[in-house]
Amino acid sequence: MCGIIGVLGSHQAAPIMVDALRRLEYRGYDSAGIATIHEGALDRRRAVGKLVNLSDLLVENPLAGRSGIGHTRWATHGAPNVANAHPHQSGSVAVVHNGIIENFRDLRKELGKNGVNFESDTDTETIAQLIARELKAGKAPVDAARDSIAQLEGAFALAILFDGEEDLLIAARRGSPLAVGHGDGEMYVGSDAIALAPLTDQITYLDEGDWCVLTRAGVEIFDVHNQPVTRITKQIKLDSARIEKAGHKHFMAKEIAEQPTVLANALAHYLNDDASIQLPDGLPDFSAVDRLIMVACGTAYYACQTAKYWFEQLAGLPVEIDVASEFRYREPPIGSSNVALFVSQSGETADTLAALRYCSGKASDILSVVNVPESSIARESSVALPIYAGVEVGVASTKAFTCQLAVLAILALRAAQQRGCLTDAEVAKHVDALRTVPGLVNLALGIEPSVERLANELAKARDILFLGRGAMFPLALEGALKLKEISYIHAEGYASGELKHGPIALVDEDVPVIVFAPTDPLFDKTVSNMQEVMARSGKVLLVTDATGAERAREGTWDTLVMPECDPVFAPIIYAIPAQMLAYYTALAKGTDVDQPRNLAKSVTVE
Ligand code: AGP
Repeated sequence: MCGIIGVLGSHQAAPIMVDALRRLEYRGYDSAGIATIHEGALDRRRAVGKLVNLSDLLVENPLAGRSGIGHTRWATHGAPNVANAHPHQSGSVAVVHNGIIENFRDLRKELGKNGVNFESDTDTETIAQLIARELKAGKAPVDAARDSIAQLEGAFALAILFDGEEDLLIAARRGSPLAVGHGDGEMYVGSDAIALAPLTDQITYLDEGDWCVLTRAGVEIFDVHNQPVTRITKQIKLDSARIEKAGHKHFMAKEIAEQPTVLANALAHYLNDDASIQLPDGLPDFSAVDRLIMVACGTAYYACQTAKYWFEQLAGLPVEIDVASEFRYREPPIGSSNVALFVSQSGETADTLAALRYCSGKASDILSVVNVPESSIARESSVALPIYAGVEVGVASTKAFTCQLAVLAILALRAAQQRGCLTDAEVAKHVDALRTVPGLVNLALGIEPSVERLANELAKARDILFLGRGAMFPLALEGALKLKEISYIHAEGYASGELKHGPIALVDEDVPVIVFAPTDPLFDKTVSNMQEVMARSGKVLLVTDATGAERAREGTWDTLVMPECDPVFAPIIYAIPAQMLAYYTALAKGTDVDQPRNLAKSVTVE
């Protein structure tokens, strides 16, 4: 939700931190700020809006110092303005924070009674004020920080800097991820390895409840009981070049274009040359599983909804799916023969992590499908299946979605094999079909010129509907989400058979209706729903293959012709038009494609 950086360096910290914050801006961009210690004195610069505003401020009013902390914010408490921008400072202490302090109002009240005047509306300032109070009581900085952290409830990743302490940084992690970077005579802390990529690949991830004391000599880590602990330091290979746009106008465009490559890479990790499936040890035997529970948010949820068709139709396995923010509040009964599966690109989505924790100790297995193998969700799973999509920076998830689908499809085939629903030969046939997907996705990218032309029309719409049947229904939902989250046009996805039960009242000549309809067994039914729309002057954009176009393009506004494909895996290939329609419509609208308003890439608060 927010991005944090901390540096104990041998060079000026400000430019290093601004560069790191640029890598973290996908996590939030309502405001940004840094603080440094220079000649013993703590000072800070903060700016509202995008990071470029902070950079401009630093040009006018530079900040010297080799030790510092920085932050890019997605507002939770308090409007996006300078007063609420991090770092928050109280006297000789400055703090940057990602997460939500759930008891901050009680703490504010208590501090207010002791005469503390707050300058912001944020929960974070409370942390700075707490530490300042402990310092005033005569405690050393480390003790003051430790005793203040112990009073906090909720989720936080913190970095704390003290006036006069040029070789000291305190960091803490509870709920929100935090990485410690080891340099040569330098030490860093950051929200993730991406932020630290140009500085070091030697990363130590703090565990839940850890806090630590950094100096340039190294780090001392303490667990939630303040006991010294050692955490593994790993070499995290993150080619910092991979986090650039590689000549594309936006990260989203790059990540759409990368899909043939990353899909082939993901499949290569799980499929052998003889078309057999290669999955990590520790997975359950699905013949003994009576229910699969899949939980996620947003696009990842639509991946689950798509996979439900595969698990049920190919493996005969009952599947329950839910959005993570609702799941645990339903208090669903979880049986010991149930397997719980969590899908998350970031692996840090608070709602999904909370749902995982609800299932821990109840379900027989906790599985996850993630893009960040060292993420919290991965670490708390019995088996985590990486999707190998590479770093995804665009807030609108694209390549992660299709790679999630590919891995879920492979898992469904494994389940089908173990449950005796598919013979080895039938599995091999599906694997062969899956292997053609990267090439078909590459072909599908060829619709780009048609999409660009159509998008100029779509950009004028007030409302847009997406329709699909069967496994294309979740794709209709995903297409609507993609479009609304980056173009800000209201869009809804519907099961095409559902339109006539009310939503068709929305249809008139100004409402484009985008219909995903490969020539699968449900094609004719979808076409009749499409004709119901056209009979009411609805503008239908049909997305189908050449066969479908021949049979049903008559009377449509336009038709996007996709490569012929195995209908089972069509949702992976048809994700391309869904993504491209959103991208080019947003471009036509002039919105910020990679950093759409009000959003963040990883929602690490509930
Ligand atoms: C998708 O384009 C959105 N950015 C959002 O819905 C996202 O899929 C959701 O927040 C889940 O994120 P996760 O996959 O990292 O858990």
